[in-house]
Amino acid sequence: MHVITWGCQMNVYDSARMTDVLRPLGYRPVDAPDTADMVILNTCHIRDRAAEKVFSELGRLRVIKEARAAEGRKTVLAVAGCVAQAEGKEILNRAPFVDIVLGPQTYHRLPEMVARAARAGGAVIDTDFPVEQKFDFLPEAAGPQLPGGVSSFLTVQEGCDKFCSFCVVPYTRGAESSRPALSVLAEARRMVAGGVREITLLGQNVNAYHGDGPDGGTWTLAALMRALADIPGLDRLRYTTSHPRDMGDDLVAAHRDLPQLMPFLHLPVQSGSDRMLSAMNRGHGADDYRRLVDRLRAARPDIALSSDFIVGHPGETDADFAATLGLIRDVGFAQAYSFKYSPRPGTPAAGAPAQVAEPLKDERLQALQALLREQQDAFNADTVGRTVPVLFTNPGRKPGQLGGRSPWLQAVHADAPATLIGRQAMVIIERSLTNSLSGRLVEEDRTSGFRSTERACA
Ligand code: SAH
Ligand code: SF4
Ligand code: F3S
Repeated sequence: MHVITWGCQMNVYDSARMTDVLRPLGYRPVDAPDTADMVILNTCHIRDRAAEKVFSELGRLRVIKEARAAEGRKTVLAVAGCVAQAEGKEILNRAPFVDIVLGPQTYHRLPEMVARAARAGGAVIDTDFPVEQKFDFLPEAAGPQLPGGVSSFLTVQEGCDKFCSFCVVPYTRGAESSRPALSVLAEARRMVAGGVREITLLGQNVNAYHGDGPDGGTWTLAALMRALADIPGLDRLRYTTSHPRDMGDDLVAAHRDLPQLMPFLHLPVQSGSDRMLSAMNRGHGADDYRRLVDRLRAARPDIALSSDFIVGHPGETDADFAATLGLIRDVGFAQAYSFKYSPRPGTPAAGAPAQVAEPLKDERLQALQALLREQQDAFNADTVGRTVPVLFTNPGRKPGQLGGRSPWLQAVHADAPATLIGRQAMVIIERSLTNSLSGRLVEEDRTSGFRSTERACA
C-alpha cells in the first residue's frame, strides 16, 4: 500500500495509524503508487483549491490504476481526510474510479470497508461521526512516524467546538473529544520502548484536552504531561496546536516545572486587531494575547513563540492590519506561518460582505512575511555562538553529518557519529542558514531533559 499525506501533523499521525490498521490484512507500505495494491490519499481542506488539488491527484492515480488493471493487477483507491469528509459524495460523482471514501473519524473501520469494496464492486463511503471512539478499536501503534524513529506525533485530542469564522475544521473533524489518559500513556510507553525520545502531543485544540484520568477525575493537558514526564527515556515533550483561550495556569506552570517540556510554543493568534479577533470569533483580544505571552515568559524565560496569521479576513482595514504588525513587533516570534484569507464553503466568513481584494491581501501578506522573516532570522542569528542541546534524529545530507532539532525546534546539523541518533548532545552553533543552523559537537553524554539551571547557554 501507498499513503499520500497532505495537511497538518494530525494527518501524518492518521496516515501512520491507517497503515497500522491495514497491516493485519497483509498490506505493507511501499514507496510509490504504481507498485501498490492499495493507495490512500489523505487530504486537507483548510485553504484554497483543496478539492481541485484532490481531483487533479486522483486523475494521476487513475492513470496508474488503469495501467495496473491492464496488467491484471487490482488497485484499491481510497480518499481519506478532511476533503473526503466535506465532499465525499462529490468525490464519488466526479471520480467514480475511487473505491473508498472515508472521513477522519472512521478509519478504524477500514478493514471492513476494504472487504465491502471487494465484495460489492461498487464504491464505499463512510463519513460518519461514530459514537464509538476510533482509538478504542485501533491496533496498537506500530511505532514512530518520523525518520530515525526518534520523534513522534501522538494524537490526544481531536475536533473543535470553537467555530472560528474562517475555519472548516469543526465541520471536517467534528466535536472536541479527548482520549483517556491511560490510553495515551500506554501508547507513549510503547513509542519510547520502540526508540522514540521526543513526543509531540497533537490536537486541533490540544490544550482543551480533558481526558478521563485513571484516578476517576478529568485530566488537563498539564496533568497528562506531568504523567508523561515520568516515563524514563522520554526526553522531550511538545504539544500543538494550542488555542490562547485554553492556556490555563497549570499549563503555564508546566512550562516552568517540566524540564522535558521544550521551550517552544506554537500559539496561533491570527490577528492583532481586536475588531478582527472578534469578527473571527477567537474569544480573546490582542492584549489578552500579550499578557499570556508575558505569563509564559515569566514561567519559562527562554520560551520562544511561533504563530499563525491570516491577512485579509473579511472587513480587515489598513488599521486592523497595522495592529497585527504592532502585535508582532511587541511579541517577537521565532517562527510563524501566515496565510491569505481563503473563503471556505459553509463557514460564516465566506458569505460575509466586505471581502478583501486579492491584490490587497497579497500586499499585506508580503509586508507581514517580511517582518516575520526578519524576526526569525534575528532569532536564529542569536543562537550562533551558543551551546545548545540537540536531539539527533536522522543522518544529515553530507556523509558524517547528522540532523536534529534544538529545543526551539530549529533544524541543526553537525558532524557526529551515527550512534548519536536518538540522543541529545551539546552542539555549539556556528552558522545560521536560511532554514537551519550548523554547529559543532561539544559533548555527547546528555540523554535526558534539561533543568532550568542547566539550560543557560554559553
Ligand atoms: N486550531 C488551530 C488552527 C488550525 S488550522 C487554531 O485555532 O489556531 C491552521 C491555520 O490555518 C490556522 O491557524 C489559520 O491561520 C489557517 N487557516 C485556517 N483557515 C483558514 C482560511 N480559511 N484561510 C486562511 N487561513 C486559514
Ligand atoms: Fe479552526 Fe478556530 Fe477550531 Fe482552530 S480553534 S481549529 S482555527 S475553528
Ligand atoms: Fe487540513 Fe483537516 Fe488538518 S483540514 S489542517 S487535514 S484538520
